[in-house]
Amino acid sequence: MAKNIFLSRPLPEAGMELLKQSEFNVDIHWDEEPLSRETMLKRAQKAHGLICLLSDIIDPAFMDAAPHLEVISNYAVGYNNIDIDHAKSKGIAVCNTPGVLTITTAELAWALLFAVARRIPESDIFMRNGKFTGWKPMLMLGSSIHGKTLGIIGAGQIGTAFALMSKGYNMRILYSGKPNRILESELHAENVEMHTLLCESDFVSLHVPLRNSTYHLIGKEEFALMKASAYLINTARGPVVDEQALINALKEKRIAGAGLDVYEYEPKLTPGLTELDNVVLAPHIGSASIETRSIMAVMAVKNCLNILRGKPCKNRVI
Ligand code: GLV
Ligand code: GLV
Repeated sequence: MAKNIFLSRPLPEAGMELLKQSEFNVDIHWDEEPLSRETMLKRAQKAHGLICLLSDIIDPAFMDAAPHLEVISNYAVGYNNIDIDHAKSKGIAVCNTPGVLTITTAELAWALLFAVARRIPESDIFMRNGKFTGWKPMLMLGSSIHGKTLGIIGAGQIGTAFALMSKGYNMRILYSGKPNRILESELHAENVEMHTLLCESDFVSLHVPLRNSTYHLIGKEEFALMKASAYLINTARGPVVDEQALINALKEKRIAGAGLDVYEYEPKLTPGLTELDNVVLAPHIGSASIETRSIMAVMAVKNCLNILRGKPCKNRVI
């Protein structure tokens, strides 16, 4: 009997085509809105392959309710939504979509950095409200970017791509964590302790995965170290930042601003966040370009098909 694949949300066409052409039975939840947990569990019962989103919680109870599951293919590079240890104990393969969204996510981090530092969303609202009465010396003054110090926390693929894009802005680059030869040779980046990075950076950008060790990596104490003129950019995962501490820091002008694509209680926002002028908010769109999402869809589908066909898959996390 043919194996079953359950896809928790429609993906870009290129991925769907590949699925339709496969020898497997495909069950697709066609709606853009997520299924309830109960329905998800029911629909996954017969599945041998699951293609899911970063917002789908694939915990032990989920895996136990899907006894045929051979592969969980996440349509994302981050996989903190999946209980890896439990999947391992059950012999379920877990795959992700690394590499293809690296530059796209780095682009969004820069978009947020520019947006908050040069006050683009505020300016846009100002214009739409008909408030522009003429050029003024002090109107919408923001922060320069060139010549400043850029701090990268998590110099992996995305952090490296983000740092490399600073070429042309003549910035001093600091990074914490493991030595990164590319950053050191291309940008003369300095590998420093996080403490130094926080104290000296004008822009701090987060690119770490969410793990126990990175939960609330940035909180009250870290904001206290940052310059009052500094900005925080988070395109990694929400819980890496203590969101209430961030709101306090922004309110008290302990830091100048923040550009966020991810949230601690996604999709909920901590009360108070949307009332602040010095924060730019995006709805978790790091990889959201037409081109990249299409490539990710093909990759997530291929990952699932390869595992079900017993073929090698280079994007296996476990
Ligand atoms: C997006 O957040 C991803 O992990 O792909
Ligand atoms: C800006 O438009 C300037 O001319 O200074």
